[in-house]
Amino acid sequence: MAQDALLITDLKKKYADGPEALKGVSLTVPAGDFFALLGPNGAGKTTIIGIVTGLVTKTSGTVSVFGIDTDEEPERTRSMIGLCGQEINFDPFMKPRDILVNQAGYYGIQRRIAIPRAEKLLNDLGLGDKFDQIGFKLSGGMKRRLMIARALIHEPKFLVLDEPTAGVDVELRRSMWEYLTTLTKGGITILLTTHYLEEAERLAKHVAIINKGEIVANGTMEEILALHDPSTSLGAGGYSGGKLEEIFIKLTSNNS
Ligand SMILES: Nc1ncnc2c1ncn2[C@@H]1O[C@H](COP(=O)(O)OP(=O)(O)O)[C@@H](O)[C@H]1O
Ligand SMILES: [Mg+2]
Repeated sequence: MAQDALLITDLKKKYADGPEALKGVSLTVPAGDFFALLGPNGAGKTTIIGIVTGLVTKTSGTVSVFGIDTDEEPERTRSMIGLCGQEINFDPFMKPRDILVNQAGYYGIQRRIAIPRAEKLLNDLGLGDKFDQIGFKLSGGMKRRLMIARALIHEPKFLVLDEPTAGVDVELRRSMWEYLTTLTKGGITILLTTHYLEEAERLAKHVAIINKGEIVANGTMEEILALHDPSTSLGAGGYSGGKLEEIFIKLTSNNS
């Protein structure tokens, strides 16, 4: 049986002097999946990703990556994951190729292997003419793509992206999602968070919706869309997307 890329059981997180950010979250991301984690601001998405990638300490619960417990072998699980975090966090004075080669160094990948790999990734992500352009001169969308390239430099099996298309224009968002889809076709598992429900609806295989630290819906995209009540639907006739958004609003609008 294929192993799950991610198995989270009853995960809880209470930040010191802060809120109970996760109130017992359980999630499964099958290997090879394209999984979208959706939720309003403050729902707990980045906290989940932080715990999975070892940046945030959990209060309780278990997390395993490809069957390996993150408490037992944190370095091993961490090295199986490529993380593209929510905040732009590369050195703005460095050049894209050097940023990738440096990152490869953290995983013990030699320069002679890292350099061509970095150049291929940058090419694939449309940054082929930016190898030597220092980071702060890149546009917002280019910075995001650079972050994705960096997350892939050690050839992880599992790519985790936190709001990868935030602040990226429509055209570029579309090509970014297409790129991610080609990665999943190549066998890479993807977990991402996003606010762009239309794209999630089109491309994700599984979806979970989190609100205030609790999962309020979880299933295949078809299962989630089946929760939709046509009597409240905005559009009549030919369906052209938007159901997911209506479901999302219904499930997360109790923000009293
Ligand atoms: N380092 C932190 N210290 C205290 N509270 C935090 C910290 N990080 C996040 N929170 C709080 O935890 C909750 C969940 O945040 P987060 O996981 O960032 O949500 P999301 O990514 O869905 O917007 C929010 O109430 C947020 O303010
Ligand atoms: Mg977040």
